[in-house]
Amino acid sequence: MVRIDATGGALGEVSTPMLAVGLHKGESAPLELGEAADAVLSNEDFSGKEGETALVYAPEGIASPRLLLVGLGERTSFTLDTLRRASAIAAKRARALKLDDAAFALHVSEGSAARVAAAEAAAEGAALGLYRFDRYKTNAESRELETFTLVHDDEDEVAGGAETGAKLAAAALLARDLANEPSNAATPEYLAGKAREIAERYGMEATILDRAGIEAEGMNGLATVGRASENEPRFIALEHHGGENGDPPVVLVGKAVTFDSGGISIKPAASMEDMKYDMSGGAAVLGAMETVGSLNLPLNVVALVPATENLPGGNAFKPGDVLELHSGKTVEIVTTDAEGRLILADALSCARRYEPAAVVDCATLTGACYVALGDHASGLMGNDDALISEIQTAGEASGERAWHLPLFKEYTEQIKGKTADLKNSGGRYGGALTAGAFLKEFADYPWAHLDIAGTAYYGKQQNAYTPRGASGTPARLLVEFLRGRARDRTTEEA
Ligand code: BES
Ligand code: MN
Ligand code: ZN
Repeated sequence: MVRIDATGGALGEVSTPMLAVGLHKGESAPLELGEAADAVLSNEDFSGKEGETALVYAPEGIASPRLLLVGLGERTSFTLDTLRRASAIAAKRARALKLDDAAFALHVSEGSAARVAAAEAAAEGAALGLYRFDRYKTNAESRELETFTLVHDDEDEVAGGAETGAKLAAAALLARDLANEPSNAATPEYLAGKAREIAERYGMEATILDRAGIEAEGMNGLATVGRASENEPRFIALEHHGGENGDPPVVLVGKAVTFDSGGISIKPAASMEDMKYDMSGGAAVLGAMETVGSLNLPLNVVALVPATENLPGGNAFKPGDVLELHSGKTVEIVTTDAEGRLILADALSCARRYEPAAVVDCATLTGACYVALGDHASGLMGNDDALISEIQTAGEASGERAWHLPLFKEYTEQIKGKTADLKNSGGRYGGALTAGAFLKEFADYPWAHLDIAGTAYYGKQQNAYTPRGASGTPARLLVEFLRGRARDRTTEEA
């Protein structure tokens, strides 16, 4: 794991094997660099276009033997995400050059909050960009970048930001690790074990229900989806008591279908291997809890993760079956492939017992959401405008965008059952919204739902800090949302 630190030295004096400096389109290099970048800029070999790089050897007048210019694009379209990508590019280039250390110039001036946020983003970008999942490669490239140093005049501010940024990245890194694991390793019990580890690390409370416990609780959605599997289902609850006693908690719910074959309504074989990622919602929630713990957020936070496989078998549930879910509502199974909403319904109904301030669930729930938004944003639905807007803001800030979709009452009409209260599919049209409408039936508190079917994993690198495989989305969005709530609390008290 790369160590991210900070130094207050002047750019020209930093002694590092490679100094990276971000430059906007059409702008000259910072004065501190002297003439080091002039040749590249005057030859127009480098325009500052986003993602563009130029490597200068033995640059004149600066201590570092290598200067990497990284394009930041137009200054007017600059965001923290630009910085995440730029630092990821720098860190990965240093590693590709087999260097042990590199430094990154944070020449932002406007105000302390902006400087800290920039340091967080640069640290996050480097840690996320360097991520690799290669534990199953017997000849994996083992060389790692050891340190990545952020350079700024105010060392203390930036050091704090670097430390926080590394913790923010850890949410996504854990989520990626869990989701990239194949389903023969990442079973429901494996996820439960990871939850226990988080609880131990940070003094949280972990409660794990096995199959018998799930049945005894009346979580028949979860018990039924998991019925045909040798790897038994688990219901995972993690409680972080960072707030006052009795403060209503925020509850995070994550779908963790460790493999979704579709069950009796079996999926086509093409890309079925990707259904190991169907636990990405649960992975993101556990990832977020890791960072809730390391930042020790002054809030009460509960994580609920229903974890199961969805397999066919002699005792599998079948289309036409009717079950009574945890809430008491009955549902008619139209397709065993709409399993996510069944296990989430149980978790959402269980969340009521915490008298939550808000509940946010995330799930690789529908192919329809993927079709609607592509892989550029998660679908966002809910029953509370203020909460929706908090999630949108957290999405923008974290670079994990969420787009608000409607839950008109007509979508609820579409999932009314014939023999039971509800049916578990509303058909092809508006599939993301009928799934959202189904979940809404179980949420009698401020609630938001993130459909991450299109954003949870990528077949090829998505951007400089999101490699192929699991993205970890929306672990960082969730942490950002919780940090926002923690900030609001502190200002209310002041
Ligand atoms: N896990 C899938 C959704 C999914 C599809 C995630 C593609 C990622 C990529 C979910 O359980 C599912 O099968 N949904 C069905 C619902 C339908 C049968 C009502 C779908 O989207 O087709
Ligand atoms: Mn399914
Ligand atoms: Zn699924």
